Order: sequence, then structure tokens, then C-alpha cells
Amino acid sequence: MSALQPQLDEIARRLRDAADAVNDSAELEELRVRFLGRSGEVTLVRRGIGALPPAERPDAGKLINDAVAQMEMVLDAASARIARGALDEELQRRIDVTFPAPDAALGSIHPVRRIIEEIAETFERLGFATVLGAEVEPSYYTFDALNIPADHPAREGFDSFFITPELLLRPHTSPMQIRTMQQHRPPVAILAPGRCYRRDAVDARHLFQFHQVEGLLVAEGINFGHLKGALAHLSRTLFGPDQRVRFRPSFFPFTEPSAEVDTTCPKCKGSGASCSMCGGSGWIEIGGAGMVHPNVLREVGYDPAEVSGWAFGVGVERIALARYEIDDIRRLIESEPDFLRQLQ
Ligand code: PHE
Repeated sequence: MSALQPQLDEIARRLRDAADAVNDSAELEELRVRFLGRSGEVTLVRRGIGALPPAERPDAGKLINDAVAQMEMVLDAASARIARGALDEELQRRIDVTFPAPDAALGSIHPVRRIIEEIAETFERLGFATVLGAEVEPSYYTFDALNIPADHPAREGFDSFFITPELLLRPHTSPMQIRTMQQHRPPVAILAPGRCYRRDAVDARHLFQFHQVEGLLVAEGINFGHLKGALAHLSRTLFGPDQRVRFRPSFFPFTEPSAEVDTTCPKCKGSGASCSMCGGSGWIEIGGAGMVHPNVLREVGYDPAEVSGWAFGVGVERIALARYEIDDIRRLIESEPDFLRQLQ
């Protein structure tokens, strides 16, 4: 047996001990260099071959090659052990599901929705119930029952989208007056918010789909003063405590007397001084109102001699334009989250 064998065995033993103790791949690489690298221990032994008698050289070369092959297996095994350890560690790492996550980006309440909720809340505090109705109505509820017979010119003004000769997209929320009164005996006090539709060309002040809030109070002894009080209260809740309301004589077939309702222009505070919001009048129109027409009360089986009532219908987008001082109604329906989010 060659004299090299014990020397190689001794190197292999030290390598095995060292490899068992190694814990990461950088240390393992150091070991590979120390034993098998260019000036590693085994390489030094190999260089000694030249000093041997020529006859012994081939055997010596083979011994060294075998030893190197074994040592490489030891190093590979250690490498595999380290990789497995890293994977185990990864698998055992616990995820803390209670760790606070960053806040999700939430949307904001649309200004139209916000105003509807404020109006509903204001009247709910006064004892009114909020009711919702369908957006498609028979012309009976939209017109006939509201004292607008088939040949009445007032129908023209409602610019309706008809679905069939008898069915239409409601052009106002007033059908809910009829539906409510037909289902309940007086007193009734309701608020009916919702979408309405009219054949209007879209521009800075008009949309073909918009929102109204209808109010209706019918009981014994209700008069115009109650209506004024309710709308003044509503204006102040929406715009601020100094708000005033103005009633201009008008005409609706379902109310008598009827009025257009104005509120102080929030931009110029009513002064009108070169105000682009109110066109210099100092007032902003927010809707129509009046005392419920006796024909309407009779239509639903109420006795006008016993009960009276008021009704109003306000335009929610109109209120939003004034309150947020927006000059173009279309901005409310264009999806601009950053713009809408700032309107509180
Ligand atoms: N419905 C009317 C409109 O849309 C408004 C209104 C409601 C008027 C209730 C009087 C009473 O123009």
C-alpha cells in the first residue's frame, strides 16, 4: 500500500469533521477551497507525485483521484443538508395574521347621496318616514292622479321617457304622494327620495337622469306656514343657520297655491354682487312646493274638508351645485374620485 493512503485518510477525516460542523454555504465553500482548491491540502499532496519513483506515480494518481471523489461527495452531502435546513426554516416561519394591515383605499359617499341622507335625517327627526318607489310608473300615478288629465298641457313640461303608451320613467317623485296616501289613512308624513328622468339635452345645468326628494305632510289643520317652516328648516340644515327661503308664485296642477322655492345663494350670501352662481339675483331655486290640491286628496279618498297638506319636491343636484359651488352638473356624474371625495 502506498504511503499516501494514511495521509489522504487523515485529510478526508478532517474534512468530514469540518463538513459536519458547517452551517451555511459560505462556510462550506471555504472548506472546499481549503481542501480541494488550487493550493488546497489535496492539491499539495498531488504535487508531491513528481517526487515519487516513476513506477509508483500512476497508482498514486489514482489514489488521489479516488480520495477527491469521496471528499466531493462529503461536500455535496453537506451542501444538501444546508439547503434542506434553509427550506425547513422557511416552512416553519409563522405568518402573523394579526399583524395590522395597511388601510384599504375606501371610496367616499357621493355628494348626491350625502345630501339625500341629510334631508332624510332632518325629516326623520321631525317624525317623517322615508319611502322608496319604483322608477318606472304608470301614467296614472305620474299624471292622472296628480290632477294632470291626459289632455292637460302640463304633461308636456315633464318631458317624459315613455316605455309604452301607459308606462314611463318617472319624471318626478310626486307619484309617491299618491302611492303613500292610497295605502295609509291620514295623518301621513313622508319623504321620498329617488332618481327621476326627463328628455333634457345634457349641458352644464341639465342631466336626463337626476334626483329629487319629495316631501308630503297631510293631517288636520296643515297650512302654508307649516310648509314655509319645513323648507326654511331644511335650507338651514343643508346650507347654514343664516339661510333664508323665498317663495315665488307658480303653478303645479297637484298643488294650490303653488310656489317655486328659492334659498339664499350660498356663494354671494344673497348679495348677488356679480355672482356667477345665482346670476346676480342672490337666490338659488331648489324646487317646487305647494298645498296639496283638493282633487288629489279626493283621488286618494281623503276628505279635503277634514285634512289638508303640503308637498314639496327639491332637486338634489341643484342643491349640490349650490352647496359645493360647482359650475357644471356633469362633474357629479363623471367618475372623478379625487374631485368627488373633497365634497363633504
Ligand atoms: N313634482 C314637481 C316637479 O318635479 C315639484 C313639486 C313637488 C311641486 C311637490 C309641488 C309639490 O317639478
